[in-house]
Amino acid sequence: MNKHKVLVAGASGYLGRYATKEFAERGYAVRALVRTPEKLSTPGPNLEPAIAALVENVVRGDAADRASLKDACRDVDIVFSCMGLTKPQDNVTSEQVDHLGNRALLEDALSHGVKKFIYISVFNAEKMMNVDVVKAHELFVNDLRSSGISYAVIRPTGFFSDMGMFLSSARSGHMFMLGDGDNRVNPIHGADLAKVCVDAVENSEKEICLGGPDTYTFNETMNMAFEAVGKSPWITHIPMWVGDAALFVTGIFNRSLAGVLAFAVSVSGLDNVAPATGSHHLKDFYRDLAAKEEKNG
Ligand SMILES: NC(=O)c1ccc[n+]([C@@H]2O[C@H](COP(=O)([O-])OP(=O)(O)OC[C@H]3O[C@@H](n4cnc5c(N)ncnc54)[C@H](OP(=O)(O)O)[C@@H]3O)[C@@H](O)[C@H]2O)c1
Repeated sequence: MNKHKVLVAGASGYLGRYATKEFAERGYAVRALVRTPEKLSTPGPNLEPAIAALVENVVRGDAADRASLKDACRDVDIVFSCMGLTKPQDNVTSEQVDHLGNRALLEDALSHGVKKFIYISVFNAEKMMNVDVVKAHELFVNDLRSSGISYAVIRPTGFFSDMGMFLSSARSGHMFMLGDGDNRVNPIHGADLAKVCVDAVENSEKEICLGGPDTYTFNETMNMAFEAVGKSPWITHIPMWVGDAALFVTGIFNRSLAGVLAFAVSVSGLDNVAPATGSHHLKDFYRDLAAKEEKNG
């Protein structure tokens, strides 16, 4: 029997690598859409796996260059996209990548008769529509809903990879935290999220909200990071208005950086607790990441 073919857009990222692994292990033939194929041969910075050996083929494409995405979906049954702007890129906006890049991919999928399009947006999007990256995600979700293709939109809380950055601050001995840190989150590991993404191929659910198995306050996630590196917690809380003001000033000099920071500032002011799933715990992730970083010096 022929294997089902899936295009994973954003395969070089944190979730993309776990999704590729999960699809491959469940018998799909994976085509990876990436900007830099060489990245697939080495593990990612947050313990996510190397996946070069798991993909059947690789196509090079850039979301900001529509022409480069043409025919990425040829002979593909399913498109899974977690292609998104999560770090500042020179002269590139969330609108170009998250909205228009994914829209170009959707148009290519429609032209090649793809059966289902699975897209990663954000949990609590409706509360953060003033944030460029969230708005860009949701503009694409609207395109997807009205396209006529069968689809699923997955809305996760924060990924373990995002919590990973607390570890380097903890290692320095001191962290800044926007707000009082009492808001709650149930972050999710890429492998747990990837399972739900692949299940979505067969499910009929169109919108899936999810987070990891454990809920913590932001203060607790930071304390765990200090514990993992063997340091006493030292956290300075900064009022939310300072974050907003810093964002305003950053926006004058660097729109791209401000766009990415705006998401972090918004999340710092919200409870982000979604229906729980998965079996991976943040404490173990911090322990393993701290051990890797120590080994690598
Ligand atoms: N991280 C979170 O906590 C979180 C929470 C909820 C939702 N999400 C959403 O989930 C998605 C995946 O997040 P992630 O944490 O896995 O992100 P990530 O590790 O930064 O991966 C993003 C992927 O998109 C690719 N990409 C970025 N700009 C591109 C461009 N111009 N053209 C083609 N590919 C491009 C990246 O390629 P390169 O490797 O070449 O950069 C990478 O493969 C994003 O849309 C994000 O907004 C994330």
